[in-house]
Amino acid sequence: MTSTSQKTVRVFAPATVANVACGFDSLGFAINQPGDIVEVTLRDDDKVRITGITGDNGRLPLEADKNTASVAVMAFFKELGGGSGVDIVVHKRMPLGSGLGSSAASSVGALFATNLLLGEPMQKGDLLPFAMIAEASACGSPHADNVAPGLLGGFALIRSYKPLDVVSIEYPDNLYCTVLHPHIELRTEDSRRILRKHIKLEDAVIQWSNLAGLIAGLSKSDFQLISRSLNDIIFEPVRSLLIPGFDRVKQAALVSGALGCSISGSGPSVFALSTSHEKAREVGLAMKQAFSALQLDSDIYVSTVNRQGPRVLAPGEDPVSPEF
Ligand code: HSE
Repeated sequence: MTSTSQKTVRVFAPATVANVACGFDSLGFAINQPGDIVEVTLRDDDKVRITGITGDNGRLPLEADKNTASVAVMAFFKELGGGSGVDIVVHKRMPLGSGLGSSAASSVGALFATNLLLGEPMQKGDLLPFAMIAEASACGSPHADNVAPGLLGGFALIRSYKPLDVVSIEYPDNLYCTVLHPHIELRTEDSRRILRKHIKLEDAVIQWSNLAGLIAGLSKSDFQLISRSLNDIIFEPVRSLLIPGFDRVKQAALVSGALGCSISGSGPSVFALSTSHEKAREVGLAMKQAFSALQLDSDIYVSTVNRQGPRVLAPGEDPVSPEF
């Protein structure tokens, strides 16, 4: 499936939940649905082109220097010294401006597929800086808490940006994620702009203690510790103002037995973690009901944590649809 003699590779690249409550720009995890499908074909020349985009209602740029998929691949080719070219088709299977790492999934999928077609000149993890360049082009910030878990799978901690130091965090197998995607859109750029630039020391202490608690809870499969640590006292109070019904949705998730609930990335999606698929569905139903009480529509995705990051799809395989 991944031999260098292939000219086209079609991959699934997972959505991601960044921040995970207390880990702003530092922690994220990948989920098994939704995600993008990206098809990359080697060219005989050194051009990089976006030859098609579906599922975006014509909103994403076809210009290679503006689309995150091609921006990432061009940065990769530059590092390799040039000489290669690809055609990229992006099938958006997740909403834009949703807080689910939509731009990250496209760049990660394109990089992963291109690297395979070239016979893997780089290890998967070494592709990360190119995906970060694409993130910066999309929203002005090279944050890695979507692209790192999207590429590596599982939970990824960005311990340092300069130099880049990404650590994979172990987590329990029976950890399930519910995502409520409200049918509204928020641009990451906008939901970053409203954040306070200075935080109080006492708030910082609470936040980094929670992040440490969450990492410890994940590594030790201590669900109670995970639950106690899933709190964001700095960013959620500000960003949640942009998400109608957030407090009701969060309350519904917690009352239904979720371990915790917060904003996915920069929003508007809201995620909750649970210990079984059944519970995660129940939590999803409660979240959807709470949201629809405001006459607002949403999709619910229920998923395990994605362990592998992007993967090559079998011919005709179509892995993505909302739970309900
Ligand atoms: N950490 C980023 C933010 C994620 O919260 O702005 C964006 O998806």
